[in-house]
Amino acid sequence: MNNDTNVTWHEHRVSREMREKKNNHKGCVIWFTGLSGSGKSTIANTLDHKLHQAGIQTVVLDGDNVRHGLNAGPGMLEDSHGIEFSKRFGLGFSAIDREENIRRIGAVAEIFTQTGAIALTAFISPYRIDRDRVRNTLKKGEFIEVFVDTPIEVCEHRDPKGLYKKARAGEIKGFTGIDDPYEAPVAPEIILLAAEKTPDMLADEIITFLKNKDIISL
Ligand code: ADX
Repeated sequence: MNNDTNVTWHEHRVSREMREKKNNHKGCVIWFTGLSGSGKSTIANTLDHKLHQAGIQTVVLDGDNVRHGLNAGPGMLEDSHGIEFSKRFGLGFSAIDREENIRRIGAVAEIFTQTGAIALTAFISPYRIDRDRVRNTLKKGEFIEVFVDTPIEVCEHRDPKGLYKKARAGEIKGFTGIDDPYEAPVAPEIILLAAEKTPDMLADEIITFLKNKDIISL
């Protein structure tokens, strides 16, 4: 007798190990943190390019692109979703909004590591507790905190978006490093002296770290 109820469905699950084997490298999060204008995005993009050239699966999440999409600010959601929605879910720069910004980015980056990719994130992420929470969602060794250690004087002198000038003039309130805190990492995996070296040299320092930890083998 043919008993259809005994048909067993096999679960088709692609494991993380299978994905990493296919990629020929491990997944991880490279979490850049530092002041606005410190060089986070530039270094992340330089590293992204080098890793991509070497056939490594990467993704870059950075402040400017994520704050236009996933974590759009209040002013950007009003037209499409209405004022109430915008007030509730749009993210600005208060401590609690920055906390939620980092939580969402951490969750997205974690998904990428599950696919065996290397996620590069470039956000000020000024609060230690918010960064540590993301670290704790990942396995040991998977969260690589990179402190882009550029003195504020250098960042302010560069002022690529003219925001330090506005903050000094009081046109932006709560600007990180001016009238809002930046908590430097206590024990980051990597410290980059970005005022003294080129993005190319700094990206190479991270590649050396990834090789030493057997995350990639180039
Ligand atoms: S974070 O603090 O929540 O991690 P994020 O990296 O997403 O910040 O965004 C920082 C970018 O937003 C800065 O590089 C700058 O261009 C812009 N910005 C606008 N207002 C502020 C502010 N009050 N403090 C810091 N950056 C700001």
